[in-house]
Amino acid sequence: MRLPFTLIFALLGCDAVFASPAKRHYSTHNYYVLEHDPSAGASLADVARTLGVEVIEQAGELHNHWLVRASKPTSALDSRQLDPVMQIWEGLQAGTVHNSYARADETLLSRHVASSVKYLSPQTLRQRVKRAPPPINPGSQTDEQVESSKAFAQRMGILDPDFPRQWHLINDQFPHHMMNVTGLWEMGHTGEGVITAFVDDGLDYTSDDLAANFYAAGSYDFNDHLDLPTPTLFDDHHGTRCAGQVAAVKNELCGVGIAYDSKVAGLRILSGPISDVDESAALNYDYQNTSIYSCSWGPPDDGKSMEGPGYMIRKAIVNGIQKGRQGKGSVFVFASGNGGRSADQCNFDGYTNSIFSITVAAIDFRGLHPTYSEACAANMVVAYSSGGGNAIATTDRGKNKCSYSHGGTSAAAPNAAGVFALALGVRPDLTWRDLQHLCVRTATKVNPDDPDWEITASGNQFSYKYGYGAVNGYKFVQAAKTWQLVKPQTFINLPVVQVENGTMDLFHQTTGGTIIAPGGVSSSMTLSQSLLDENNFGALEHITIQVWITHTRRGDVEVELVSPNGVKSILAAKRFADKATTGFRGWTFMTVKHWDESPVGTWNIRVSDQDNEGEIGRFLGWTMTIWGSAKDASKPVKIYDVPTVDTVLPPPHPEANIPASTIVAVPTSTKTYAKPTAHLPGDHSDSEGEAHKPAFPVGPQNGTRPGTDTADPSQSSAVVTNTPTPDEGWFAELSNLVTNQIWFFVAVGAVILFGVIAGLFFWRRAARRKAAYTSLPESDEVVLSSVDKGAGVGQRSKELYDAFGEVSDDEEADEETRLRPAGVSPAVNLHAGFLDDDPSTAGGITPRYRDEPEEGMHAHERERSDSPTSGSGDGSWEHASETR
Ligand SMILES: *[C@@H]1O[C@H](CO)[C@@H](O)[C@H](O)[C@H]1NC(C)=O
Ligand SMILES: *[C@@H]1O[C@H](CO)[C@@H](O)[C@H](O)[C@H]1NC(C)=O
Ligand SMILES: *[C@@H]1O[C@H](CO)[C@@H](O)[C@H](O)[C@H]1NC(C)=O
Ligand SMILES: *[C@@H]1O[C@H](CO)[C@@H](O)[C@H](O)[C@H]1NC(C)=O
Repeated sequence: MRLPFTLIFALLGCDAVFASPAKRHYSTHNYYVLEHDPSAGASLADVARTLGVEVIEQAGELHNHWLVRASKPTSALDSRQLDPVMQIWEGLQAGTVHNSYARADETLLSRHVASSVKYLSPQTLRQRVKRAPPPINPGSQTDEQVESSKAFAQRMGILDPDFPRQWHLINDQFPHHMMNVTGLWEMGHTGEGVITAFVDDGLDYTSDDLAANFYAAGSYDFNDHLDLPTPTLFDDHHGTRCAGQVAAVKNELCGVGIAYDSKVAGLRILSGPISDVDESAALNYDYQNTSIYSCSWGPPDDGKSMEGPGYMIRKAIVNGIQKGRQGKGSVFVFASGNGGRSADQCNFDGYTNSIFSITVAAIDFRGLHPTYSEACAANMVVAYSSGGGNAIATTDRGKNKCSYSHGGTSAAAPNAAGVFALALGVRPDLTWRDLQHLCVRTATKVNPDDPDWEITASGNQFSYKYGYGAVNGYKFVQAAKTWQLVKPQTFINLPVVQVENGTMDLFHQTTGGTIIAPGGVSSSMTLSQSLLDENNFGALEHITIQVWITHTRRGDVEVELVSPNGVKSILAAKRFADKATTGFRGWTFMTVKHWDESPVGTWNIRVSDQDNEGEIGRFLGWTMTIWGSAKDASKPVKIYDVPTVDTVLPPPHPEANIPASTIVAVPTSTKTYAKPTAHLPGDHSDSEGEAHKPAFPVGPQNGTRPGTDTADPSQSSAVVTNTPTPDEGWFAELSNLVTNQIWFFVAVGAVILFGVIAGLFFWRRAARRKAAYTSLPESDEVVLSSVDKGAGVGQRSKELYDAFGEVSDDEEADEETRLRPAGVSPAVNLHAGFLDDDPSTAGGITPRYRDEPEEGMHAHERERSDSPTSGSGDGSWEHASETR
């Protein structure tokens, strides 16, 4: 067996050293990621031998995660044949490997191996598809602008010929609308010593505009497994353009970068199919030296996808936050998305709605909101980009080529990343959260009359379109100079609320829940100061809300959260294109709108739909996590760990660390009737830029201000509070448990009874499923996505649906069939996953990047996005990710 040197180091007990990933051979081998728990009794070698796999290397920077492989079975896979490695693991888990003839020590070893493998997942090759920036009308530039830019260039000795075209650096036409960094250059702040990696389609390090600032040691090509991120495909120019925005050299070519003395690295992942393990390795690549990871891509922005990073990728992001940059945390910058015209929202993208990324939306050269730019409560800031006829001038691929058509939120994110590089050049000790705080505090309000602005409880102004405002380089870096580092991060996982006993199991079977009545249903939770104190919780930053909702048309569902101070976060607004029937399977929304607000009091979540004939759903449950800074920095804080299962309601390991006494009032369900819902105005597609519309014009839309309590159901005469049904009574009485002995015993009895019933339920289910179902990875999405793509497994997916199929699953299947383009047979479509080594032969793979506007992408995306997995909670993207 091959023992690569990283493994030898690991076996010797050393930390794995930083090494280039080995070349992959997908044509001859199946690859898996294995999470090994060394304390569970079996060594990695034992595990590998038992599973029949070869250990290749550590998975990126994730300790105890290993990339392993097995030769592909030689016989052609017929549709019934299962993955042998997954079969062995399944057998180990089920205990079927033990038999009466096995020697006792073998049986023991099997048990140890079973418990030592925390996670095992086949690595699926997927094609990330890039997208062209939205089309722009030819712009006009005034002589006046050229003059003034020239004057500055002359004074600063800037000889780059395109500097006058770089309106995002000096905008004479609209002088207030620019990144405002030139004053910093004059003070000598040019990003020296900071490295930004562009996770993209390559980086042309031969360009005379980038060569001097190229950082090879932090670069890698994960598509072709080469040391340098050479753009080779005809359309691999996107990463180079983004890199030019940050670090184009001050010379006699094109323009200059915002941090023109900083370094840039290229991590090439968008130019071919890659697996989750490689994407996670890319996001942690050279993460002690690289500070910023600029990511201008994401799931399709079609207004109907709801996808996020898979388990491995989420682990890598958290690993980067916790260990990157010597523990100060990697800075992940994500573009909010270009789906604004399709009513897409960045809260439906698991990368942009992550608390670990800084989400950047776009404004145009006049400061207006370009209609492509996505709005949501997770938007932190905006930066300048294309729209209204102007685009971004930057470096292009080629030895001395320049681009004048760069844009979309793709170009907004690097402009923000450039400012972060300037700040880190001055204050390298800032943590990932300090940068977020600086965004909140220094962003500049644009279009003050835009009705999308609202005052938050802390007195800041927030807008779904602009976040906290436009990144202002000068203000940002000046504030950074004297910024006092924030205290360590802490969080509180609040109890999971099961609305009318709502449940969802690993296979998305649901029970209970309450029908979403006209006007919506709501549920609330009250937090006390003592809860915060007991958890050493100081000041609030992010809030994440996880919801379990079924619905026959997901795009109809609206979710909003109202704080104790009356500040409303719209988490999900209507999405006209989203016809998925999968609902929200533990999907997590995020809001930054409550930053610095006191979380004490009653939080109310309201779920409503469009009340459309025949479209119905149930609200099953929700939970909330509040994130912020520790009150006392000297006390130890909780360290966040990515959950392996997060789609099950109630979760398998409910958070037990919250004493019931600290939750004063507990979840109640109320129904609100007859709340008028304002009709949406016409769509935005004809608008090139606007500053007069709220992003989500639903309901009474004055902007809820602190003190007003419009969303409090009890304040409205049109509200009916349900007489508590037994379960609601149980919830409502939870707070009295400590004082009411009888209730306490009744409740304990009920919990035990529920446990027994649930146990029987899962046992029966497992027994029924065992024969047909091979693997049970942590994430059911992993199961489904492999099911969806493997030919052999595809059959099982059908069995799975048949055996446990609810109506909606069948409908999904029908829908998928219906939407599949003629000529692509289902068998071909399903045969497009990890069992295929050559992506070009795999049916169902979305065509690669085409240089056309986003509308042009819809036809071929439809097929993917309506597939069962795309609607799922944390499913990774299928074949399509899009460059913004
Ligand atoms: C831009 O930076 C300059 C310093 O170069 C500063 O005086 C000015 O206030 C900044 N503009 C805005 C809008 O903050
Ligand atoms: C990058 O970081 C590693 C680990 O901290 C260090 O050993 C190495 O010297 C650094 N490389 C460069 C080029 O700075
Ligand atoms: C809310 O909007 C209505 C009508 O648009 C207006 O009359 C009212 O004054 C507004 N209220 C607030 C608090 O802005
Ligand atoms: C919810 O569960 C509790 C405890 O198991 C039970 O007493 C109650 O009847 C259930 N309520 C509903 C609406 O099913």
